[in-house]
Amino acid sequence: MRRPIIAANWKMYKTIDETKQFIQNFLPKVSNIYDREIVLCVPFTSLYIASEMLKSSNVKLGAQNMYFEDKGAFTGEISPLMLKDIGCSYVILGHSERRKYFYETDSIVNKKVLVALKYGLTPIVCIGETLEEREQNKTFNVLETQLKMSLSNLSSLDAEKIVIAYEPVWAIGTGKNATPQQAQEAQSFIREKYAELYGSVVAEKVRILYGGSIKPENFKQIMEQKDVDGGLVGGASLEVESFYKIVTCDKK
Ligand code: PGA
Repeated sequence: MRRPIIAANWKMYKTIDETKQFIQNFLPKVSNIYDREIVLCVPFTSLYIASEMLKSSNVKLGAQNMYFEDKGAFTGEISPLMLKDIGCSYVILGHSERRKYFYETDSIVNKKVLVALKYGLTPIVCIGETLEEREQNKTFNVLETQLKMSLSNLSSLDAEKIVIAYEPVWAIGTGKNATPQQAQEAQSFIREKYAELYGSVVAEKVRILYGGSIKPENFKQIMEQKDVDGGLVGGASLEVESFYKIVTCDKK
């Protein structure tokens, strides 16, 4: 049985005060949930306060990006060492917004994945096709290439530890989520490829999340799919009530 993960991706939202308020209200509501992992991926400036507040809780902390060197003259960057030091367990890597606006390539993502693992951070590696690629029937090709290149030189042991997020680009922030069938189809394909690359035991263990316009109303059906092991939630994770409903959506 794979333990689900529900991760919030706050993107470039929330000041320190807003972070505090969210966590104060959110923590008591989820304090007895242990059958799934709950992760908050907050902006860099909120990591410290979030880390202090989540310390003895069941909610884990994540960052949304990092650089692939542990230190050095890289103005404006944040290293895996720093993320570890501040209390992160997770880091989102290769999000489509990073690929699109900050020109991240699969090979950069690959460097980041390897170094994150070296420092004991669990990467949440995002892959997904654009609308154009889907319409041209290239979805599987794109997923396979992104998977293979982002995870190059990974040992089977490490391949088991990382988390994959299938995030169709056309579904991110658009209000147009993938149907449960579309998510299942893509995610079972990813698991199949994983089995080819790292063997079926690893493929059965790796957790594959869905991301893209998740809402309390649509997530239950998506979560019911065999190869969906949780969600990476953007917009709907910014409000305590909606994120709480998503975290608990299949519990009612
Ligand atoms: P969204 O974002 O839920 O707002 O579509 C998801 C993501 O970008 O991870």
